[in-house]
Amino acid sequence: MSVGRPVPHDSAELHVSGEALYCDDIPAPANTLHAAFGVSTIAHGRVRRLDLSRVLSAPGVVTLATPADIPGENNYGSVVHDDPIFAEGLVQYAGQPLFAVAATSYRAARKAASLAQVEYDELPAILDVRSALAAESYLMPSERIVRGKPHEMLAQAPHRQHGSVTMGGQDHFYLEGQIALALPQEGGGMLVHSSTQHPTEVQSIVAHALHVSAHAVSVQCRRMGGGFGGKESQAALIAAAAAVIARKTGRPTKLRLDRDADMIITGKRHDFAADFDVGFDDRGRILGLTVMLASRCGYSADLSAAVNGRALTHVDNAYFLEHVEVISHRCKTHTVSNTAFRGFGGPQAMVVIEHVIDDIARTLSLDPLDVRRANFYGIGERDTTYYGQKVEDNVIHDIADRLERSSRYRERRAEITTWNATQSVIKRGLALTPVKFGISFTATQFNQAGALVNVYTDGTVLLNHAGTEMGQGLHTKVAQVVASELGVPLSAIRISATDTSKVPNTSATAASSGSDLNGMAAQAAARTVRLRLVDYLCETHGVGPTDVKFADGNVTVGTRHMSFREVVATAYLARISLSSTGYYRTPKIFWDKVTMSGRPFFYFAYGAAVAEVAIDTLTGETQLLRVDILHDVGSSLNPAVDIGQVEGGFLQGVGWLTSEELYWNTRGQLRTHAPSTYKIPAASDWPAFANVALLERAPNREETIYRSKAVGEPPLMLAISVLHAIRDACAAAVPAGTEIDLPAPATPETVLRAITPLAPRVFA
Ligand code: MTE
Ligand code: HPA
Ligand code: MOS
Repeated sequence: MSVGRPVPHDSAELHVSGEALYCDDIPAPANTLHAAFGVSTIAHGRVRRLDLSRVLSAPGVVTLATPADIPGENNYGSVVHDDPIFAEGLVQYAGQPLFAVAATSYRAARKAASLAQVEYDELPAILDVRSALAAESYLMPSERIVRGKPHEMLAQAPHRQHGSVTMGGQDHFYLEGQIALALPQEGGGMLVHSSTQHPTEVQSIVAHALHVSAHAVSVQCRRMGGGFGGKESQAALIAAAAAVIARKTGRPTKLRLDRDADMIITGKRHDFAADFDVGFDDRGRILGLTVMLASRCGYSADLSAAVNGRALTHVDNAYFLEHVEVISHRCKTHTVSNTAFRGFGGPQAMVVIEHVIDDIARTLSLDPLDVRRANFYGIGERDTTYYGQKVEDNVIHDIADRLERSSRYRERRAEITTWNATQSVIKRGLALTPVKFGISFTATQFNQAGALVNVYTDGTVLLNHAGTEMGQGLHTKVAQVVASELGVPLSAIRISATDTSKVPNTSATAASSGSDLNGMAAQAAARTVRLRLVDYLCETHGVGPTDVKFADGNVTVGTRHMSFREVVATAYLARISLSSTGYYRTPKIFWDKVTMSGRPFFYFAYGAAVAEVAIDTLTGETQLLRVDILHDVGSSLNPAVDIGQVEGGFLQGVGWLTSEELYWNTRGQLRTHAPSTYKIPAASDWPAFANVALLERAPNREETIYRSKAVGEPPLMLAISVLHAIRDACAAAVPAGTEIDLPAPATPETVLRAITPLAPRVFA
């Protein structure tokens, strides 16, 4: 059976040979236009005059698109319709598209786009979270969850501490930037190739922009060169603008953002500021906690309600918080609209609670691991989250036990203490942090998927499902499921591009639930075909259903052996349908918006990491020396793909928390919009010693596809161990008891500031 085997990614060879088709590689018709956006240079203001005459007369330019050229709605916001495709009158961030220009070449379009003459009446701009909090500038109402009596418990607690936590955002830095190719079809139709995690949403937004029905628009995505959440909602902007030009000119139109444009125009991970007040006992057990979370949403709603909703339900991470209040503010700023990013608000909330735990440990002079353990959810007691979901699948004790042993945590702690006592320049730090992450879309309705399985008479199978491939190996896993269901080799299955005309009304491939949802839907589709074949064989051979077995490309009927190919060929002649759709929706989940409680997650995914770092106290540079990871994926559908997700997610998290710094100047212009100024991890940042393992013999207790667990996002949060190892090393560089003010990302500058708190802020 192919499920459970470490088969390579189905496009691995195509990726390395360069044969894999990304949107930009799809051969475009000869008359294709190339488009580029012209954008606002100010953060907030009214456009007094927009003179595009120089743009239009530039070499190669064919046409322009402004709001007047949009036949339907000038919007790409999916939840709240507050995202204009082209800003009209009011501009709300530096980088906001004002128009698009279409030319005969990509270079010509980009050059022309910069020739617009724009005059603005500038308005005051709110640029960051703290300024937005002070001005009570919110995009949507704040939300709050309370359990127990946190304020009373705080007042009574033997120890009490308050503080603040800040962490930056993160650019998605997918290798393939945002892109779409729109091809006008007969009778007002439009075919769009889009690099999108959400073809159905692109279809709907393009249809609204063009003022046509959904059935007139088809959206296809063979693969993305990475999405990471950045192509969940915002791919629609690029697709809609391309489609508007294609409609206006009747010519195929490609809109591709280069790296700088992509970073300036599209949203990122929300940066957060948080305040906390915690009361605890002598062992470090939390007795009462209040947390204020505030995130920078940017100028529009986008997915911010859901992102902050997930943050609101992840302040516990793996810890039981009996008396707690969490408040979430969704700040409106005059910056790009922030969006989904691997973890979707969860990582930010988890950084906050890990900071709280670390502070408690430092106050009590305890090993942070012991404080973490003292607060873990119990098994059979202390096991209900503050939003009312029972934690039934708790494996965090087991993971922490195993990892503590396999990483030699205690011995290395002692070694590091000795090192730090004798070395004055290089200090080392160690931290073990846990992960517990809720799996399911927080918006219950998105937890559904469909699939289409076509079996051809030569015994091969074409598979289509609602999910998109962004490198995470979803297609490989779903193909494994179908191969196993039909008892055929994996080579018999081919997956075609995700296509709204094949499987309709799909959800975004997001919330890590791609294989949970589409694996089940595809299994259901394949099962329908298999059961039809079983019925047919029972009838023709006079056997019962249990006498029919599908395995290894063969079908056994009683004592007779046939090839799968023979069976489907004869079934076709007997007029048995060899094609079926399948459908799945996640059971058990619900959420009450009024009481802010329910069971938002089907289950939890767990993991833990031990990181060891060294910091140079003269330069602030840090190095990740070693990481040990133990991660829970239930019964893995594909251990090779899963290990890849764990390693990639972890390192992406390390980038977020240590080196990827987004910097906006006082005018609200992003100054870090290329790899020259924005540092993502490179291969050389992978630690010399890395032990990455999957938790074995730990099937999902819920009935997921082959008892597997989602793996896409949770490993990112393993990187919090690195931030805390750095904090630990910083603590060794300052006199005991010194408060360590280390925001994320922990760049060399912030590390230096943290260990020289009294020094002048030369880097500010
Ligand atoms: N892995 C790769 N290689 N590229 C990506 O873009 N996106 C991540 C994760 N892993 C991503 C990735 C995010 S944000 C999510 S939600 C999941 O994959 C989505 O896919 P899945 O649901 O199939 O795991
Ligand atoms: N995760 C990712 N994307 C989403 C979610 C979620 O929980 N809810 C809506 N879109
Ligand atoms: Mo992932 S942030 O849910 O696309």
